[in-house]
Amino acid sequence: MFSASAFAMAACSEKDPVEQKIDSLLSRMTLEEKIGQMNQLTGIGLADDMTAQIRAGKVGSILNELDPGVINELQRVAVEESRLGIPLVFARDVIHGFKTIFPIPLGQAASWNPQVAEDGARIAAIESSSVGIRWTFAPMIDVTRDPRWGRIAESCGEDPYLASVMGAAMVRGFQGNELSDPSSVAACAKHFAAYGATESGKDYNTTWIPELQLREYYLPPFKAAADAGAATFMCSFNDINGVPSSGNAFLNRTVLRDEWGYDGMMVSDWGSIEQMIPHGFCHDLKEAAGKAANAGIDMDMMGYAYISHLADLVKEGTVSEKYIDESVRNVLRLKFRLGLFDNPYVDVTGEDIFYSDESLGKARRAAAESAVLLKNDRKVLPVGASVRSVAVVGPLADSPADQIGTWCFDGEPEHSVTPLAAIRSMYGDKVRVIAEPGLSYSRDKSAEGIRKACEAARNADVVLYFAGEEAVLSGEARCRADISLPGAQTELLKALKNTGKPVVLVVMAGRPLTIGYEAGLADAVLYSFHAGTMAGPGLADVIFGKEVPSGKLPVTMPRMVGQVPIYYAHKNTGRPAADITLIDDIEVGTKQTSLGFTSYHLDAGDSPLYPFGYGKSYTEFSYGPVTLSSDRLARGGSLTASCEITNTGDFDAAEAVQLYVRDHVGSLVRPVKELKGFNKVFIRKGETAKVEFVLSEDDLAYWHSAELSDGDLAFAHSTLVHTAEPGEFSVWIAPDSASGVPAVFSLE
Ligand code: BGC
Repeated sequence: MFSASAFAMAACSEKDPVEQKIDSLLSRMTLEEKIGQMNQLTGIGLADDMTAQIRAGKVGSILNELDPGVINELQRVAVEESRLGIPLVFARDVIHGFKTIFPIPLGQAASWNPQVAEDGARIAAIESSSVGIRWTFAPMIDVTRDPRWGRIAESCGEDPYLASVMGAAMVRGFQGNELSDPSSVAACAKHFAAYGATESGKDYNTTWIPELQLREYYLPPFKAAADAGAATFMCSFNDINGVPSSGNAFLNRTVLRDEWGYDGMMVSDWGSIEQMIPHGFCHDLKEAAGKAANAGIDMDMMGYAYISHLADLVKEGTVSEKYIDESVRNVLRLKFRLGLFDNPYVDVTGEDIFYSDESLGKARRAAAESAVLLKNDRKVLPVGASVRSVAVVGPLADSPADQIGTWCFDGEPEHSVTPLAAIRSMYGDKVRVIAEPGLSYSRDKSAEGIRKACEAARNADVVLYFAGEEAVLSGEARCRADISLPGAQTELLKALKNTGKPVVLVVMAGRPLTIGYEAGLADAVLYSFHAGTMAGPGLADVIFGKEVPSGKLPVTMPRMVGQVPIYYAHKNTGRPAADITLIDDIEVGTKQTSLGFTSYHLDAGDSPLYPFGYGKSYTEFSYGPVTLSSDRLARGGSLTASCEITNTGDFDAAEAVQLYVRDHVGSLVRPVKELKGFNKVFIRKGETAKVEFVLSEDDLAYWHSAELSDGDLAFAHSTLVHTAEPGEFSVWIAPDSASGVPAVFSLE
């Protein structure tokens, strides 16, 4: 169904002057030079070995070289001393900032504000391109339903629609208006695909995913990134249904190229081609190189597979030179699009643009906007004028490196402003700040500091307890089977609570943690995913009421880890949860047959600790009924769903309004709710805003069999279609995924 447009795009691109330049270059390249363009190495400065390989045309790209002087010299060797003068492209993982660090991507997603993501990526591009980096390995748009997985921190959470919107915003931010502008960096949509499905939340682990679910859940953010113009893609480490992504022609050719008509460049992950050997998919590096090239991987990141074996494989006929030409065309197209042929060098004469006031200001707002208020009993927050003293406690209160989170190679902790430093400098003249960490790092199990922390609490009006996870506990290969607060942090909270003072628990973490018990103890809970360089001022703005919290969860928070995977867009089952009896309420001797037979856990019930989309404000919003422009949606037509939302509280504030839809009966079972839109609106106190969403047939479409009546055919992928089926739909306009009253309409 996509092939017609793919042909059209290919035909069109043949006429493009860039394609003509590529044709001309390709016709002059030797096989070895072509393969050189497909080779990416990690920087080792100006070592002879590196310059010799560049001179010989054996390197297409270098990652992790950061010295602009070295970058320019290596580029000079490529441009002036290699036979064809093809420039290098320098790459780096600039994930949520280069120097000015924004909240981790999960935190950015919690802002439900695409502008936050776009601004963060733009600043990252401006800062990193100033040293010569023109390609970043971001955004990571792997959706995941597993908070044990360390890389959830790098993701935009559990929902494909939210991840699509945020990922596209990041692509726009990185790539700017023109990719050829020296301040733009090529984005890389990663990891293609389904890396977030890793079994048991353990990194690099296997995945087994029916094609329907792959298309329905894991692929949409990648399609959105491709549509937003992401210049490159990266494959993933995992195998999918037994085939590693690096050797997966279905993903990298059939879906990406043939169906989507993508003409960007596909890079392997670090050594992932070579890793097809331990996967048990290839006997040796040569076989791996052949499988990867045949599967459509254009560039080998630090695997030495292509450079060592591709020439022989072509000569033997295992890999067609046509495939090599296609890959090299993709690499060269990237370099032309980046303007590297015209402007290969980085300008080193410019002023230092790191940590500009404007960037820090945006990072601070992003930190504030991504904090999620989960609880606020007796309106403990914001800390008001009557508060004369605060105790600032906890291992994350003054931990500059931890607050910038995972995947920050270049952020400098000495530039972090911690919550303690921010509270002191912003409010130190108004309130007495008594600092006592209690624990020196998140895993600290010693009880020695607890007594002093309690003493500080007793001397203060309010306790601000900054708990959470160190940065190193999330990120790549940093998975946890137990996602509770580590160390003696819960003990410290209990002791603080026993002082009788109001306790505000601020969690700074790389993932949702199981904090049900702790949330019960605390008077207020503010959840901040590691919020970056300006985490301190951003959180202080929220805590002291300069900013009203407006973040909402981009992921479901489980009560206990055994509920994982737990997500809002689940299926209803044939026996949805009802009459829940929890384990402690079962009387001794109760008969097996007397408790009912519905779908829940005896010890956790059926609800999460906090649902997807949830987040409180200092004000109150009252949602009116959902009004539909019609109760019927015609094929090809549209329907407007609207809702009046009134700010009935005491603060002007922003609210992330969410649109959910349910398809009641499908030829395949449909989720109980799916996010189809959101809009963050600012409403002054006492005022009402009308929020409207337009729904079309496309919003109701899903992947299923062409044969509506036969669910079995869903397993024959050649018959899959993405269409909407006739029937009844519910539509919610709601503050989160667990509330609201729907309106109903039908699709003809
Ligand atoms: C990660 C990628 C990253 C690459 C280069 C790999 O280990 O999976 O996301 O871009 O390293 O640093």
